[in-house]
Amino acid sequence: MIIAIDGTTSSGKGTLAKRLAAQYGLPHLDTGLLYRAVGKAALDAGVDLMDEASCAALAMQIGLKDFDERELRTAGVGAAASIVAVLGGVRRALFELQRAFAHRQGGAVLDGRDIGTVIAPDADVKLWVDASVEERARRRFLELSGMGEVVTQSEVLAMLKERDARDSQRKDAPMKPADDAIWIDTTRMTPDECLARAIEIVEAKRGKKKT
Ligand code: C5P
Repeated sequence: MIIAIDGTTSSGKGTLAKRLAAQYGLPHLDTGLLYRAVGKAALDAGVDLMDEASCAALAMQIGLKDFDERELRTAGVGAAASIVAVLGGVRRALFELQRAFAHRQGGAVLDGRDIGTVIAPDADVKLWVDASVEERARRRFLELSGMGEVVTQSEVLAMLKERDARDSQRKDAPMKPADDAIWIDTTRMTPDECLARAIEIVEAKRGKKKT
């Protein structure tokens, strides 16, 4: 069973993906980490984030490994990730890796922006996870402050709006729900409620498949 989870930044899709994977005993790939790893590699090497050939060459060296999430989850690396994610060459370099992960024997859970539309359009379950931008800014602010970053909530709100615009307006694989994705609005949901709703959706799909 392939479960594709797409959605906006800080919507709760990552937490949901992790918990759904544990629930069904499936491997999980947070595809945002791949783009973050390319963004970080470009920043470290002093490469221009719009230089497609150089960023694609860095992306080609990214493999599946235990990413150092502490260094990849900063606001600066997130912004860099969303800039390099616009580049078609970077997306192509990361495509096979994600596709192979999705189609491994037994299935997988992947979360990102284009899983249900580009990486695994054949996924058994497609979820689109979103929340109001104000609520997402509140969550992200708490997360970044907890990591010791000095930011205000209104700065985080502005960053999220900028990121949403760049992710949804890019030419290659823009962030958008697949036509057959089921929406979960987490604005007023706890992570437990969100997981329960997702399990309900997965079970309904599995029931349908059997009959
Ligand atoms: O989900 P996360 O915030 O870690 O993703 C960082 C950035 O990577 C996103 O803003 C987006 O630009 C890019 N991304 C993408 N496609 C994916 C996953 C992430 O373009 N499947």
